[in-house]
Amino acid sequence: MLDLIKSRKSVRKYASKHIPDEDLRKILEAGRLAPSWMNVQSWKFILIKSQENKDLLSELSVGQSHVKNADALIVCVADTSAWEEAKITHISKPALNPALQGENGLLIRTMEQLVYPISYMMLEAESLGVKSCIIGALGNEITQVLPEVYAKVKEKLGLNKNQILSTIITLGYEAEHTETSKIRKDFNSVVSLEKLGNNF
Ligand SMILES: Cc1cc2nc3c(=O)[nH]c(=O)nc-3n(C[C@H](O)[C@H](O)[C@H](O)COP(=O)(O)O)c2cc1C
Repeated sequence: MLDLIKSRKSVRKYASKHIPDEDLRKILEAGRLAPSWMNVQSWKFILIKSQENKDLLSELSVGQSHVKNADALIVCVADTSAWEEAKITHISKPALNPALQGENGLLIRTMEQLVYPISYMMLEAESLGVKSCIIGALGNEITQVLPEVYAKVKEKLGLNKNQILSTIITLGYEAEHTETSKIRKDFNSVVSLEKLGNNF
């Protein structure tokens, strides 16, 4: 697994080769199986293959060309109504129930859940030789940019007012191989033992 993590990199230039549906299904299945708070699974994933929707989503992500040129996209939706539907209202302690953490708390916790399926899907894609890039620079309720485009996207993709388009994952085969260079902070500057600053 660590080798896979080390070799993964964001890829933004894709070959014109299609990802088999079988592999797309495996990638989505990895997301579906991710863990979540009290197993609420407050997410939806929309697979996008049509050029028309890719173009619209590229516009939403301030014209990022890899959104337009990817073979497929996965639109990751945070569903804030999932907590109510999960029937956890009997849990009355706010610390245990995001639905009782106020509007902002609920929003943050719902967005937080998506990190896990997104990571799982990217790693499953990598294991299948499919490259990806996370797209977070886009218009939605949080960024409040491109409101007209966002309204159009929500309508077109069938999202209701409780469903927030959080992230897009672009997928495709690499157009040309480039070396992976992991530019990351040093181990000891991000990892500590017992107290910040004590090296492990
Ligand atoms: C939450 C999040 C949002 C991101 N948004 C974008 C984006 O909008 N466009 C893009 O090209 N890359 C985006 N990235 C990819 C990062 O730029 C990339 O992961 C980072 O530079 C590290 O490079 P690596 O993925 O190749 O290791 C995003 C990554 C994360 C985690």
